[in-house]
Amino acid sequence: MAVDTGTRRWSELFAERTRAEVGGGLYEILALAADTTLIPFAGGFPDPQTFPAARTAELLEEMVAAGDLSALAYSPTRGLPGALDALAARLEALQGRRPAEDELLITSGGIEALELLVKSFLDPGDTVVVEGPTYLGAIMAVRAFQAAVHAVALDDDGLDVEALGRALEDGLRPKLLYAIPDHQNPAGVTLSTERRHALVALAQRYGFLVVEDVAYRELGFDGEALPSLWSLAPDVVVQIGTTSKTFFPGVRLGWAAGPAEIVSQLIVAKQNTDQCAGALGQKLFEAYARSGEMDEQLVRSRALYARRCARMLAALERTMPAGVRWTRPRGGFFTWVTFADGVDAVDLARRAAEAGVAVVPGSPFFPDGRGGSSLRVCFSKVDDDAIDVGIERLAGLL
Ligand SMILES: Cc1ncc(COP(=O)(O)O)c(C=O)c1O
Repeated sequence: MAVDTGTRRWSELFAERTRAEVGGGLYEILALAADTTLIPFAGGFPDPQTFPAARTAELLEEMVAAGDLSALAYSPTRGLPGALDALAARLEALQGRRPAEDELLITSGGIEALELLVKSFLDPGDTVVVEGPTYLGAIMAVRAFQAAVHAVALDDDGLDVEALGRALEDGLRPKLLYAIPDHQNPAGVTLSTERRHALVALAQRYGFLVVEDVAYRELGFDGEALPSLWSLAPDVVVQIGTTSKTFFPGVRLGWAAGPAEIVSQLIVAKQNTDQCAGALGQKLFEAYARSGEMDEQLVRSRALYARRCARMLAALERTMPAGVRWTRPRGGFFTWVTFADGVDAVDLARRAAEAGVAVVPGSPFFPDGRGGSSLRVCFSKVDDDAIDVGIERLAGLL
């Protein structure tokens, strides 16, 4: 019998794994990140004034004039040798460890590195530990492979590693632990050095893999960074990174650095996603990183974000009623604002949008419904004066 295509809903045929929920009714709020008429505290985006537009145009012209067509061709799945070398040199300079050739892979953004990892490791029913709150993209990536997400709380020093230790003692057995140790998204906190050592020791003891996301690592306001987890314990850590905040997100480039056995499995996984990251972007990255221009721009970017963060913290201090708390970031894009119990952050975000301010409520950043009275507030892409206006309006709603 023929199917009545007039009444068929294609979504009924979607795979089971697509049914993972982000959290009831939150799509509408998350869509605010794209609404350009609101004061943009929602999207975690770099400011376009940090994008090297003119330099990119010159580099493209130089490449074409030199007759180098490798930028227009496919690249090897692992990445172009020149881009891999420039990236390895950068990791060595910034983190004190150079990945061996078989320990590094160039990806199409940080999110692809994460996708390749979860695709390579997770079976339905496996467990992944995350920080609570964590990057929404990580929760979605894990759930797409029907694995369970278990959040361990964080505080001003990052993930509560002691609490993790107790949960492991009580029988929690994750395959992966996903963490953003530097200037975390969404909480804006940084994992202390002591906890970094303790975390990798737990991974070694209990046999799970740490996925270290360093998306904001190079954006410390003072230019300093604590030892990366990967540099401390390359046997149990895969580092995933992105050039979205240090170069520009349109280039869609990232990396994974970790044990050779894992990286070669990621390469297999990549062969049936996009096969290779775009060669054009890799060539641009190589030139921009090698010339030192990336580091010069980073000095300007850090100063810009530090200034905006200071402005936001001052506005919060000036306007928020007693009982409201917020984190004090030392880098990155975000502060995490927590209201007294009973304040419904989803409702607050809705009313803020009506008042012309976009913010994201806290609950989508947890896998378990927590975060109901918190907001993620992003300062990276807001003009300085609009920061004051936006925070004043938010305070006025309380
Ligand atoms: C913590 C974290 N990881 C990864 C990404 C994704 O980066 P990319 O643009 O390279 O996919 C983001 C982007 O916002 C992020 O905040």
